[in-house]
Amino acid sequence: MRKFKTLLVTGGCGFIGCNFIRYMLNEYLFEGKIINIDALTYSGHRDSLTDIEQQYPTEKYQFIQADIRDYPQLEAVFNEHCPDGIVHFAAETHVDRSIHGPADFISTNINGTFNLLELSRKFSTREELHFHHISTDEVFGSLGAAGKFCETTPYDPRSPYSASKASSDHLVRAYRHTYGLSSTISSCSNNYGPYQFPEKLIPLMIRNILDGKELPVYGDGKNIRDWLHVKDHCSAVWKILQQGKSGETYNIGGESELGNISLVHTLCEETAKLQGLDRDAHKKLISFVADRPGHDRRYAIDCSKMKRELNWRPATDFRDGLRSTIRWYMDNSHWCEAVQSHDYHSWIEKNYADRKQQQQDGET
Ligand code: NAD
Ligand code: DAU
Repeated sequence: MRKFKTLLVTGGCGFIGCNFIRYMLNEYLFEGKIINIDALTYSGHRDSLTDIEQQYPTEKYQFIQADIRDYPQLEAVFNEHCPDGIVHFAAETHVDRSIHGPADFISTNINGTFNLLELSRKFSTREELHFHHISTDEVFGSLGAAGKFCETTPYDPRSPYSASKASSDHLVRAYRHTYGLSSTISSCSNNYGPYQFPEKLIPLMIRNILDGKELPVYGDGKNIRDWLHVKDHCSAVWKILQQGKSGETYNIGGESELGNISLVHTLCEETAKLQGLDRDAHKKLISFVADRPGHDRRYAIDCSKMKRELNWRPATDFRDGLRSTIRWYMDNSHWCEAVQSHDYHSWIEKNYADRKQQQQDGET
């Protein structure tokens, strides 16, 4: 069992990173120190951890604004804090944005990971250090109607986002084989829960339902994703950090496969229920728009290795998790408004307008 004195978390102000830090300090009662480095891009918000900053002294939790593409800045952090564990969440993460502009995905996801690996390799000669890399099921490509991704499924990334994540996975494995860097990788399915930036499917739909705006469903709405509550992802990552075998990859999934249109119907119904409205009140907002280019059809994760070797399984019931997520977005509109102040509206509107236009062009 690995023990850590100082965990360096990258991307801790993003959706999964902030949930992980909150889980480690408030629920797991981690005894060491957490250093959170984040560049605060459009999807990272220091406010997502205001409670943690207020609750814990800097000997326990410290935020440093730093860009993983900036090697000297990272080196200074390593020199000052000497981490013995790295949990690497920081990334550009939105597939649609990677289609519109892949450059940041290449620089952050590939070059940024390379910088972290270089520093970890150098530091691991001075003291023990374990590197955990957060990856995605998207590196495996797209499934047909049957089957699931397991750890040995061949890589077949199909978007600039997934190709950049696949590339960083290969670098992590190369550092383990070539330099002996102690490392693990986890490939996870779609997360949902509090603090997710409202450009991803679930929070975007909840926000639009609450605002009475159109609900843009790509293509025929029959693409399938395997949904996992973010808290279950956090507990899985912590298990791997402590007990995962160096050099191994672990698949993490929610065992909750659902087609997008069924999910959007469920979100409409559950939100209406919480508002005391007729269950079909919001469904008229659904609008089918042109498909995402290269849209992967189906993802599904076989997480039997996590169950067998690390005694982990997803604990959150999907309906319960969805309801509590809707409630969170209803109760935290101030957070949503704050995070949407960046380029949010122009991006969402442009993305939507493009898809509507493509839809009309296809019909004429
Ligand atoms: P997110 O977009 O909400 O957060 C990303 C965070 O990284 C932000 O805080 C951002 O400021 C930071 N960041 C971006 N570029 C940076 C840079 N150059 N230097 C430092 N910080 C930078 O993403 P998320 O959904 O929390 O995803 C976290 C990780 O989990 C990613 O590696 C992603 O590929 C992976 N993942 C996500 C999901 C999901 O469903 N959200 C599923 C599987 C894997
Ligand atoms: O599978 C893990 C991946 O899940 C992570 O690696 C990514 O970082 C994360 O963003 C997520 O990728 P997806 O592309 O699956 O998530 P997104 O929320 O963008 O879309 C989910 C599905 O919903 C997908 O089939 C596209 C569809 N969709 C999405 C949006 C934003 C719509 O139909 N309408 C929309 O407006």
